[in-house]
Amino acid sequence: MPSTFHDDLFAPDAIRDPYTFFGTLRDAQPVRWNQQYQVWIISSYKQLVWTARHPEYFSSEVALRDTQPLSPTIPEEDMELFGAVRQWLAARFTQNDGAKHKEQRKVVHGFFTPKAMESWRPLVRQTVSALLDDLQGSGQLDMMRDFATPLTYSIIAGLMDIPESDRAFVKELSSQNAVTDYLKPIVAERVREPGDDLLSVICRGEIMGAYTRDEVLANALLLLVAGHETTNDLIANGILAFSQHPDQFKMLRSDPDGHIVDAVEEILRYDSPLKSVQRIATQNIEMEGGQRVGKDDRVRWVISSANRDPSIFDNPDDLDISRNPNPHVAFGSGVHHCLGATLARLEGQEAFAALAQRFEGLQLETDPADLEYLPSVGQRTLLNLPITTR
Ligand code: HEM
Repeated sequence: MPSTFHDDLFAPDAIRDPYTFFGTLRDAQPVRWNQQYQVWIISSYKQLVWTARHPEYFSSEVALRDTQPLSPTIPEEDMELFGAVRQWLAARFTQNDGAKHKEQRKVVHGFFTPKAMESWRPLVRQTVSALLDDLQGSGQLDMMRDFATPLTYSIIAGLMDIPESDRAFVKELSSQNAVTDYLKPIVAERVREPGDDLLSVICRGEIMGAYTRDEVLANALLLLVAGHETTNDLIANGILAFSQHPDQFKMLRSDPDGHIVDAVEEILRYDSPLKSVQRIATQNIEMEGGQRVGKDDRVRWVISSANRDPSIFDNPDDLDISRNPNPHVAFGSGVHHCLGATLARLEGQEAFAALAQRFEGLQLETDPADLEYLPSVGQRTLLNLPITTR
């Protein structure tokens, strides 16, 4: 390892530039025990895919099996809260393995097929267009606050048929308990009389016997949050990338319809909204490089470095919206592959195509070194994105 290397996953340099931090690791030691946080870090593409494709060795029941949150410091008083949240997290189907996971995932799967999703394209297009009409001529904008967040939230709230009059209020609810309390009577009603919206689809899971009421609530909240935060990051990270690569934005502008599908895949690869995902080893496993992962060890695979792996991608640090094929793993791999990938792609395509059709350029109004990111090991979330559109 280079002598300057350190293991602090939350250090400012690791948060600001995960590509250098995890890339150094990938090139030197793609499977490495991180002593500081007591976790295996898997940073190459090949090892990530292998790990993801062996759910029998690497369990997704992280909330149930992991007693310590992966975090720099946890105040004593927060540990009790963590215990309560673990129970709640464990009720989400993404945290299940095997037959239970399969059965629970199946309930929602039909809503997200490419064909079903395509029917929502007009709604997404209209939402993007209305938002951009409102923003046109506003000068400097925070594209996270003014565009990405209202867009993605309004779409998922729309798909779940959250009453229009409640949406602003629900968005402000910061705790899971408050959102769950809000959802309870609505869920009770939709279990009695389900419609065609996404929340009703989850409620049908209870009618079919696949979910308990608690699981309905936990999964409804999962989709409300997962369906909004990650897509938010996709749009913000893409706007930042285009502001820093005007040639690529110009290329998109030259033929938005022709380039948009590959462009969204490239943004997903280049600056992935989810940086890493966790598992727990179910048994002792010897990895390809000879490392011995122990039963119950924490394992984290790093999407950000796999997506820049030079053994898979030519010039991996370049943004190239014509890259094809592009076998990125921004949506994960294996049985837990992102359920909402079709929706995320649809939103990304409509948002970037509309920006390219309307604007000649996106100008970043700050020194890139001053951009701030959420200090998270999992999410690549910009906290501010000052942009002027031209
Ligand atoms: C799973 C990424 C958008 C719902 C995942 C996983 C990744 C991911 C990496 C795998 C997690 C694991 O293996 O543990 C993303 C990215 C998105 C996005 C980058 C946006 C650009 C969405 C949307 C929804 C959604 C819009 C729903 C409305 C889910 C669900 C799972 C999941 C339910 C769990 C699937 C399972 O466990 O079977 N996502 N996601 N995601 N995603 Fe997404």
